[in-house]
Amino acid sequence: MNVPQPVQAPLTKSATFLVLTIANPSSPSSLKTIRSALASIHDLSKNVSIRDLNSNFSVTVGIGSAAWDLLIPPSSSSHLPKPSELHPFRPVHGQRHSAPATPGDLLFHIRSDRRDICFEFESQLLRLLGASVTVEDDTQGFRYFDARDLLGFVDGTANPSAAALPEAVLIAEQDDHKACVGGSYVVVQKYIHDMPSWRALSTSDQEAIIGRTKADNVELDDQAPGAQQPHKTLATIEDEHGNEHGILRDNMPFGSPGSGVFGTYFIGYSRRLWVVEKMLERMFVGDPPGKHDRILDFSTAVTGGTFYVPPGWVLGELDED
Ligand code: HEM
Ligand SMILES: *[C@@H]1O[C@H](CO)[C@@H](O)[C@H](O)[C@H]1NC(C)=O
Ligand SMILES: *[C@@H]1O[C@H](CO)[C@@H](O)[C@H](O)[C@H]1NC(C)=O
Repeated sequence: MNVPQPVQAPLTKSATFLVLTIANPSSPSSLKTIRSALASIHDLSKNVSIRDLNSNFSVTVGIGSAAWDLLIPPSSSSHLPKPSELHPFRPVHGQRHSAPATPGDLLFHIRSDRRDICFEFESQLLRLLGASVTVEDDTQGFRYFDARDLLGFVDGTANPSAAALPEAVLIAEQDDHKACVGGSYVVVQKYIHDMPSWRALSTSDQEAIIGRTKADNVELDDQAPGAQQPHKTLATIEDEHGNEHGILRDNMPFGSPGSGVFGTYFIGYSRRLWVVEKMLERMFVGDPPGKHDRILDFSTAVTGGTFYVPPGWVLGELDED
């Protein structure tokens, strides 16, 4: 089965972010159930997406570091090496704000323009997995107007496109073992916004924090070196040769006004895990240290997880033993 995982699928109107842990890591039969469910993801996707081929359905599966060791032991006959950068989410502690690590072995990023299709896929998936997993987090994201986050800003504009997209997102031959080519790292974090405090800011203060205008999404200049930089500047990463490294974000708002919950589910795919980690460090610790990303004064990270999205054919091999 040579099916790529659709990391680069289009931004949809609806998405489900499902994070699971392995319920019983020492049970071989439970690990077998998980392997076989992962191997049948492609079939399951076909079965669900056929019900509306125009709904832009896609699913990507991410595997955490500890789960990789359990599901694909180094001695297994499949000889799938562990991706070189894969490790658990590293918490980041700044002077004011922290990015916590929370439990997560498997991530399912389920996208469709139809909420019911996401729902159907998730229910069939959880039926396949049964008692082998525990649900840690299940968040339903929705598209908000012209792809705005709940802070009111258009989110996703600076995403790489065209040839720059695979370049930024997919592991290439020169990076790692050939079984990793076409794979990707993905980092997720769930943020809860303090809306009353955010709304109390003037629009120009909000714009200075994000680094773009609110109504028409025009990029603003960086601050002078040494000053507190906007989000878009802290999230811009250059390597030692001055090359800029982008990531693919597919953030979605979630929440419930009746319960007072207003959030952003951050999801970032990258060919290089260190790029996302460096973004987090610049946001939480600040550049210079102490000058953190002021988005965080109004947004609290409540989860954090790192996963590897293998190329689709790897999932297909998990069943063979
Ligand atoms: C509360 C959570 C967050 C919100 C509401 C948010 C919102 C935004 C907005 C509105 C923009 C400007 C438009 C755009 O280019 O998309 C932006 C840019 C960006 N964000 Fe975030 N973001 C959040 C968290 C993060 C995190 C955790 C990361 C990375 C670890 C990140 C990485 C980026 C990057 C790389 C850009 C593009 C920078 C550029 O090249 O201009 N964001 N974000
Ligand atoms: C997909 O549908 C076929 C035909 O109904 C069924 O035999 C198969 O078990 C389904 N696959 C999964 C993974 O649910
Ligand atoms: C599916 O995605 C395409 C490309 O983004 C878009 O033009 C189309 O309207 C989407 N389909 C639906 C049903 O929204």
